[in-house]
Amino acid sequence: MKLALLGCGNVGSEVVRLMRTREDELAARIGEPIEIVGIAVRRLDRDRSHLPVDKAMFTTDALGLVKREDVDIVVEVAGGIEPARTWITTALGAGKSVVTANKALLAEDMPALAAAAKTGGADLYYEAAAAAAIPLMRPLRESLHGDTINRVLGIVNGTTNYILSQMTQTGASFEEALSEATALGYAEADPSADVDNYDAAAKAALIASLAFHTQVDLDQVYRAGLRAGQSSTGEWTKGVSAADIASAAAEGRVVKPLCIATREADGVSVRVHPAMIPATHPLANVNGAYNAVFVEAESAGRLMFYGAGAGGTETASAVLGDIVAVARNKRGGITAFPPEAAYQDLPVKPIDE
Ligand code: HSE
Repeated sequence: MKLALLGCGNVGSEVVRLMRTREDELAARIGEPIEIVGIAVRRLDRDRSHLPVDKAMFTTDALGLVKREDVDIVVEVAGGIEPARTWITTALGAGKSVVTANKALLAEDMPALAAAAKTGGADLYYEAAAAAAIPLMRPLRESLHGDTINRVLGIVNGTTNYILSQMTQTGASFEEALSEATALGYAEADPSADVDNYDAAAKAALIASLAFHTQVDLDQVYRAGLRAGQSSTGEWTKGVSAADIASAAAEGRVVKPLCIATREADGVSVRVHPAMIPATHPLANVNGAYNAVFVEAESAGRLMFYGAGAGGTETASAVLGDIVAVARNKRGGITAFPPEAAYQDLPVKPIDE
């Protein structure tokens, strides 16, 4: 089984390291060895001598690598919309299974990706796209597919949960907590994707699509951030202050960065914003950079998925799980399920309702 890796940052380099470290176990689980045949990177002049692969393996020609005849599986961990969309649709259309962690692309253009997977008869797996190491995508799209999910409440961004946890536990201001999150490597250098909840909105679109068997687009998710700014419906929001946290505490509540996806009589509603929850709710004690997703289903009852929602090694764990799954499917000559079959059940409500 031959694999092309697109992207070799924090997650990609951990995928390389772990595939080498667990070479024999992965071969046993798949039923044959799996080999990385090429790694696409933006620049060739970076020092990657710590990685256990030959230098000749690196290329800047990602599309050429995707099109190689001998490549069976493409793993995309580069991120961004383009050229990742072209790489992935090309791979899927040619019958190569794809594993991706690209929540932004999945949330923006799932129908195009699903159509390419259908054309090529290929698998599209994306466990690492939301909540990193926590098994969530596959439980939603497989294990719970016989049930009816009514609501999903989630903390799906580690940076914002870290910031609000610090503000709650130490009385830090938003700015102080954000500086700490940046120093610890949780927040990006430009923290907007995290603190303005764009990252959480993309994850919420994916989660709600799977939970409610419908297609939730990114622009159908109501979004407001942790700091003052414009929400997705254009109104100005004031952000979360130390005073807000203190007044919530006085009422026995905590402020959490929530994704809230609900099945209602007239459709699905999806939103991400800071929200007060009772201090006794299971999500109230999810602190630091941890993620958790609380699912309410008719027959399964209340379920909570909890763990590390970010980090190179943790995210690579989810990517490796998907690699084993798609490699096994390839060996068996099957695809897991047609992605589009899950959709078009419920309408999605406009975000300004
Ligand atoms: N910046 C993201 C977070 C990384 O803080 O959760 C994982 O998507």
